[in-house]
Amino acid sequence: MALKIIDHGTPEYQQMIQLREEILRRPLGMQFDTEELESERQNILMAAYEEDQMLGCCMLVEEAPDTVRLRQMAVLDDLQGKGIGKALMNFAENIARDRGYKKITMHARRNAQGFYEKMGYRKKGEEFHEITIPHYVMEKQL
Ligand SMILES: CC(C)(COP(=O)(O)OP(=O)(O)OC[C@H]1O[C@@H](n2cnc3c(N)ncnc32)[C@H](O)[C@@H]1OP(=O)(O)O)[C@@H](O)C(=O)NCCC(=O)NCCS
Repeated sequence: MALKIIDHGTPEYQQMIQLREEILRRPLGMQFDTEELESERQNILMAAYEEDQMLGCCMLVEEAPDTVRLRQMAVLDDLQGKGIGKALMNFAENIARDRGYKKITMHARRNAQGFYEKMGYRKKGEEFHEITIPHYVMEKQL
């Protein structure tokens, strides 16, 4: 498996949108709109690959000079539970550290809370709803 940074607007970015639609949006009856995708140009986009197949992805968005927010973490359905999410998370944390960030925060789906806890993230505050499903703010000092 290879972990890499991908660029906005490339064929790899198209693969990423497809994966995210399949895993994160279609199950909720939702899809991305052009404006939302255009706003991702500033973000650090990352993916795990096996040859040409994208297995999983995530992104980091700057929230403050010392803080990035993790978004859009997704692994292909039939490959979940095999360590791909963990590898992506470690990759994202290393990139955040290298770029001088001190904290990662996120809106974690409740069904993924246990995954993030295993990666050292802690819940902050009460449960809330976003895109129709329960979430928690979770964060970790790097
Ligand atoms: C959540 C997700 C990204 C995790 O990636 P993954 O590749 O399946 O996770 P890994 O195999 O790397 O798991 C790492 C550890 O977390 C655990 N884990 C994985 N998913 C979990 C979950 N949903 N709840 C509790 N623990 C979980 C694994 O058992 C493993 O534990 P171990 O180290 O003790 O063996 C992936 O399952 C996914 O895409 N889910 C659907 C979309 C989603 O909910 N994304 C998160 C949006 S906030």
